[in-house]
Amino acid sequence: MSEEAAAAANWSKASRQWSLVASPLRPDAGDIAFVEGIIGRWTAKAGRAPRALLLGVTAELATCAWPAGTRLTALDNSQAMIGALWPAPGLAEGARVVCGDWRAMPLADASIDIAVGDGCYTAAPYGDGATISREVARVLDPEGVFAIRTFGSPDRRERLEELADAVAAGEVGNVHALKWRIAAVVQPSVAAGARLGDIWIAFQALRPAVARMEGGPGWSEPELGTLDRYRDNDLRFFFPTAGEFRAVTEPWLVEEQRSQGEYPLAERCLRYVFRRR
Ligand SMILES: C[S@@+](CC[C@H](N)C(=O)[O-])C[C@H]1O[C@@H](n2cnc3c(N)ncnc32)[C@H](O)[C@@H]1O
Repeated sequence: MSEEAAAAANWSKASRQWSLVASPLRPDAGDIAFVEGIIGRWTAKAGRAPRALLLGVTAELATCAWPAGTRLTALDNSQAMIGALWPAPGLAEGARVVCGDWRAMPLADASIDIAVGDGCYTAAPYGDGATISREVARVLDPEGVFAIRTFGSPDRRERLEELADAVAAGEVGNVHALKWRIAAVVQPSVAAGARLGDIWIAFQALRPAVARMEGGPGWSEPELGTLDRYRDNDLRFFFPTAGEFRAVTEPWLVEEQRSQGEYPLAERCLRYVFRRR
C-alpha cells in the first residue's frame, strides 16, 4: 500500500471510531470555547464575518460558533476522510470543503482572516511543518490569526518502564493520553516520527499495568479497542518538543498566545495563536 493510501485507510478507520475517542486526541468543549473566543474577538474588531480556513475536517471546529456570513473553507488531502466527515451535522451554510494539500494551498495570498486546526502538525511529517507554516503565513491577511492545537513531546524522553509505573499508579488519565505518551517514547526522533505499529507493540508491553485500569472511565474495552487499528500500521505521527515546534513556526509566524486545556496530558497539547510575521 502506498504511504498515501495507508494514510487514507487510517483516517477513514479513525473517522468511524471517532465517537470512542476522547481528549486529548480530540478537542474538548474548552478547546472549542477557546477558538470561539478568538473568532469572537476578531469579528468584534473587524466588524464583519471572517473568511475562514479549517486545516482538516475536524467536525468540532467546522461546526463551532462561526458568525453568520462566515466563508469557511476546509482543506484536507484525504478524500476518504472528507467522505466520512463532511458535511458535519450542524455545518453552517456556505461552508465548503476542498481536497488539497496544506503544503501548497489552493488559496490566494492574504485571503484568510482566521485559520484553525487541530493536531495538524502531528498528522504531517515534521519535515513538512515549515512548509505548512509558510503557507499559512502566505494565505493569512496581515490582520489574520491562526489558532492551532498541537501534540508534543517533553524535553526529556520518558522510559517505557517509567510509563508502566505511571499507568499502574493511575497517573495516566485515559487510554488516549497513554497512546500519545507511548508515541513520545517510541519516536526515535521527530524527523522519523512515531510509527503506529510501534505504539501498538509498546502498548502490549504495558498490558499488565493497563489491566489494573481496565473497565474504569477512559479504559473501557471499546476504548482500548481503538488501539487495534495501530497494529502493523506503518503510518507515522510526529511529536515535536516545544523547541522543535518553534523551529518550524518562528520564521513565518509570530506567537501571540499559548494556553492549554484541562484534560489528561493537556500540558503536551498546547493551544497556540499566531499572526503572520
Ligand atoms: C486535522 S489532522 C488531526 C485530527 C485529529 N485531531 C487527530 O489527532 O486525529 C488529521 C487530518 O489531516 C489530514 N492531512 C494530513 N496531512 C495533510 C496535508 N499535508 N494536507 C492536507 N491534509 C492533510 C488528514 O487527511 C486528516 O484528515
